[in-house]
Amino acid sequence: MHLILHDLSPEQAERHLPPQSETLAWLAAAPGVKPCTGCFLCWTKTPGECVIPDRGQEFCRLLAKADKLSIVSRCYYGGFSPDVKAMLDRHIGYMLPWFHDNEGEMHHIPRYERRLELAWHLYGTTTEAERETARCYCAANARNLHAVSHAVTFHGDVEPSRLSTTRTQGGGMRVAFLNGSPNKGKGVTAMLLRFLEERLPGCKIVQGWDEPCDAYVIAFPLYVDGIPSGFLRELVEHERDLPPGARVYAVVNNGFYEGGQNAAAISMVRNWCARAWLFWGQGVGIGSGEILRHMPLPVLNLFGHGSMKKFNRVLDTLAGHILAGGGGEDICNTPNFPRAPYMLAGSATFRLEGKKNGLTKREMERRLS
Ligand SMILES: Cc1cc2nc3c(=O)[nH]c(=O)nc-3n(C[C@H](O)[C@H](O)[C@H](O)COP(=O)(O)O)c2cc1C
Repeated sequence: MHLILHDLSPEQAERHLPPQSETLAWLAAAPGVKPCTGCFLCWTKTPGECVIPDRGQEFCRLLAKADKLSIVSRCYYGGFSPDVKAMLDRHIGYMLPWFHDNEGEMHHIPRYERRLELAWHLYGTTTEAERETARCYCAANARNLHAVSHAVTFHGDVEPSRLSTTRTQGGGMRVAFLNGSPNKGKGVTAMLLRFLEERLPGCKIVQGWDEPCDAYVIAFPLYVDGIPSGFLRELVEHERDLPPGARVYAVVNNGFYEGGQNAAAISMVRNWCARAWLFWGQGVGIGSGEILRHMPLPVLNLFGHGSMKKFNRVLDTLAGHILAGGGGEDICNTPNFPRAPYMLAGSATFRLEGKKNGLTKREMERRLS
């Protein structure tokens, strides 16, 4: 079956999409479904299905039968609209919770044998930087979903990139911490922001969007290779709000081992920054974020040869740029500890959670018919 996920109005869908049939189904992303809460119950309690009772549950059910997925979305910063991203974040039960190596990167094992053809159709005005981000994002997502093929097509006008202006930063600067994780204070993102705050003495840290600041730290977990949908919506809403010339830094962490998997999401924040007339500072991608949740940093620092040495250096560098009001190359950090035990521990954690919910391994691997 060919599934088309789209954010068009009913009239636009009738006009632009091929008609639905036994082998072709549309799934409307608008009005937006509830954002994923990051509870992972689609792996550990109701395998393959999201527990939030709304239209978002349809996506996994339809995907289970699909061999082609087309996504038609307005393009935001090289990615999807918040409505489409909300639907996409709700589909992780489509994969199994177990980890393995796929093309040299850590990924999840597929739940289904059928492999998808992935076709993205992004419409609206886009800059060259956004089109480049979208190509990287699509390739990353195809690897994540084990797709057999992938392609991005752009529809609509093209507008030139807008350059932002710089602003000098002084002492006692105000730094906004914007935490885009649905886990808010309890998540890995919050921990990373705390580590960063310790490195910013003399700065006034502001949580949220309300006060104008000299620097904005946009921090979030990687969700389906991109920005979590609820936070993407916030970025869209605040695109015109912020003081022109303020600096933006991105801190993206992911559950898979390699920090490099955050690259497309970081460039989406850079594209947002250009649209918001802000000045880009630096992006950092933190791989193996989950290790921070399960093991406190002081304990990690005791391991072997200081397995978190690189991690600490990345945060020091970022803090240095923020304090100096400057910027630098994006850095993606993969920790020094070995990958195989990290993957094994990840799979074991999900297995344990499933067991607590009374599920056997076989039940956790069930397929939706
Ligand atoms: C819906 C969803 C999608 C995710 N997608 C990815 C992904 O594509 N790649 C990845 O490495 N981790 C992915 N993760 C894992 C999170 O990035 C990781 O658990 C992160 O450390 C959570 O940070 P937080 O505690 O601040 O929310 C995903 C998690 C959820 C809930």
